[in-house]
Amino acid sequence: MTQDKARKKAIRARVAVTGESYTRARRKIAGFPGKTPQPRRVAVFGAGYVGLVAGACFAELGHRVVLCDIQPDRIRLLQAGEVPIFEPGLGDLLAGNKERLSFTLEAQEAVRDAEVVYVCVDTPPTASGDADLSHLWAVIDALKEVRSDHLAALVMKSTVPVGTGERVRAVLHDAGLAHVGYAANPEFTAEGRAVSTFLHPDRVVIGAADDRTARLVTALHEGVDGPVEVMDIPSAEMVKLASNALLATKITFINEIATVCEATGADVETVAKGIGMDPRLGPHFLKAGLGYGGSCFPKDSRALRAMASNNGHPFQLLSAVIEVNELQPRRAIQRLKNELGTLKGRRICLLGMTFKAGTDDMREAPSTVVASRLLAEGADVHCWDPLARPAEVEPWTSTTRHANPAEAMAGADAVIVVTEWPQLNDVDWAAARVTMRNPLIFDGRNLLDPKRMRDTGFTYMSVGRP
Ligand code: UDX
Repeated sequence: MTQDKARKKAIRARVAVTGESYTRARRKIAGFPGKTPQPRRVAVFGAGYVGLVAGACFAELGHRVVLCDIQPDRIRLLQAGEVPIFEPGLGDLLAGNKERLSFTLEAQEAVRDAEVVYVCVDTPPTASGDADLSHLWAVIDALKEVRSDHLAALVMKSTVPVGTGERVRAVLHDAGLAHVGYAANPEFTAEGRAVSTFLHPDRVVIGAADDRTARLVTALHEGVDGPVEVMDIPSAEMVKLASNALLATKITFINEIATVCEATGADVETVAKGIGMDPRLGPHFLKAGLGYGGSCFPKDSRALRAMASNNGHPFQLLSAVIEVNELQPRRAIQRLKNELGTLKGRRICLLGMTFKAGTDDMREAPSTVVASRLLAEGADVHCWDPLARPAEVEPWTSTTRHANPAEAMAGADAVIVVTEWPQLNDVDWAAARVTMRNPLIFDGRNLLDPKRMRDTGFTYMSVGRP
C-alpha cells in the first residue's frame, strides 16, 4: 500500500470510530502533511445553500466565522442551533464548530471585525436577463459605512457576470477602500454533496488581481483537500458560467439522443454507457431525463447567453440547450396525453418534486413545469416527496400531498417518476398497481427496470428506452 493510501485508510478508520469529520480526523492523524491554517475572522454574507456551507466549512477549517443574512427567521433558527436547509453533514458541522460560528442580521456588525468578507448572496436574473446585483451592492454599502482598516479582502462566491469584479474594485477604490483586495472564488459544489465537495473539491478557483489577495484566499483554504488554481478575475468569473453551461449542454445532448433513440429503437442508457467509456467524454452528466433544474444550470446558462448577447454575440448553441431543456418536461406530458387520450379529470401522481434527489430544493424543478402543465390540462394532481417543503409544493400542485408513494399512487390514472429518489426502488410495485385506476408509469428518470415493471403489469414508458 502506498503511504498516501495508508494515510487515507487511517483517516477513514478514525472517522468511523470517532464520528469526526474527515478534515478534522485528517488533521489529528500524526504525519498529516497539510498545515493547520492561520485562523482568520471571516464574515459570510448570505446564509443560503452556498453561504451556510461555506461558513460551516471555514469554521471546520479553524476560522472564526460570522454569517449574516437578511432573513430574520433563518438567523433565528441558526442561533437556536437549528439548520434551515437540508444538506448532508451540515448540521454536524454547525454543531461541531459552534464556538467559532455566530449569526447576525446586522451587516455592519458582521463587517466590523472581519479580515475577509465572503459574498454568497443570491444574484437573480432581472427582466433583461442581467444579474440583479443589489444584494452585493448592499454588502459593499456596509463596507463603506464601517471603513475597517483590518479588512483585507472581499471575496465573491456568488455567480456574477464577467466584469463584476472590476466594477467592484473600482467602487472600492473610489470609496477610499483600495486596501481591500478583491477575489473571485466561484462555487462548484452540487447540492446534496456540498459539504464533502467543499472540503474535498476537484479544484478551488481563485481569481485575484494581486498576489497578496491570492495568497490570503489560498491560505484560507489550507486544510482543504484539492488543488488550488489561481488566475485573473474575469477568467475565474467565466470558469463558473462556462462550467455550468457545458454541463447543461452535456445533459441536453443526451436528452436529444434519447429522443432519437425513441424514434430508432436504441436504448439511451446503453448508449450513454458506451459513450462514457471514452475518457475524453467521461460517464458523468449523461443521464437522460426530464431536463436539468436547480439553482444553477437554468439561471447560469441564461445569464451566460444574456451576457454574450449584451456583447453582440448570439450564443446560438446555448439558446438551443435552453430551448430543448424547456421542452423536455412538456414532451413527457405530450406522451402521457397520447397514451391517455385526454388528461382532463385524470388523476396523475407525481413521485418526487425536488429538482433532484438528496435535496429539499424546489428551485426550477422540472416538477413545477410538469405539475402546472397537468393542472392546465385539467388533471387532478397528487404527489409524494420525502423532503420538499410543503409551502413550496402546494402552489404547483394545488393538491393533496401524500405521506408515502403507495398512498399517492392509489386511484391514479398515471404515475410520473419526476425525481430519482432511491426510496422508489423499495416500492412494492405489484401492490401499488392493483390500487391504481390505470397501471401507467412514465419514468422520467429511467430509474426503474423496464422489464420488471412490464412483468408486474404496468404500461411502462421512460426516456429514450425502447
Ligand atoms: C450544479 C453543478 O453540478 C455545481 O457544480 C454548481 O455549483 C451548481 O449547479 P446542482 O444544481 O446542485 O449543482 O445539481 P447537479 O447534481 O449538478 O444537477 C443539476 C440538474 O441536472 C438536476 O436537475 C439533475 O437532475 C440534472 N441532471 C444531472 C440530469 O438530468 N442528468 C445528469 O446526467 C446530471
